Amino acid sequence: MNILVLNGPNLNLLGRREPDVYGSATLADVEALAARVAAELGVHAECRQSNHEGQLVDWIGQAPGRFDGLVINPAAYTHTSVALRDALAAAALPAVEVHLSNVHARESFRHLSLTAPVCVGQIGGFGIRGYEWAMRALVEHIQSRQQKGHSR
Ligand code: DQA
Repeated sequence: MNILVLNGPNLNLLGRREPDVYGSATLADVEALAARVAAELGVHAECRQSNHEGQLVDWIGQAPGRFDGLVINPAAYTHTSVALRDALAAAALPAVEVHLSNVHARESFRHLSLTAPVCVGQIGGFGIRGYEWAMRALVEHIQSRQQKGHSR
């Protein structure tokens, strides 16, 4: 099973960026965590980060046939990007949305996620541990669908 772990804008700055909100862990720590969890689950995880909406749209569009599902932190694009939502809907792969912070406890403009409705579910507020739980939830979701005979 192949999992694509996508991180959106400014997440390359993790560890230095508003550490009181996002914590001290870096993007490299997220990638190491994803590799460890993937090995434990017996799956392959590929991590990518971009600050560019179109790049993220392209990666999601190329995912069917290469990946079985996505873990995605769309970062600020969560709240603004119809294009990312449409890309996720078009790819029709199971996706789990993750946020380091609890977006619902922050500014009101963060309360709306345009992407969550086309995801299987959303995890937020637990720092980088959220990526681990998102991966576990995604793999379990894909496996249970496979057992029920869904093709994707
Ligand atoms: C974030 C929350 C978003 O509102 C914000 O724009 C981010 C990070 C999070 O992981 O908590 O860049 O997605």
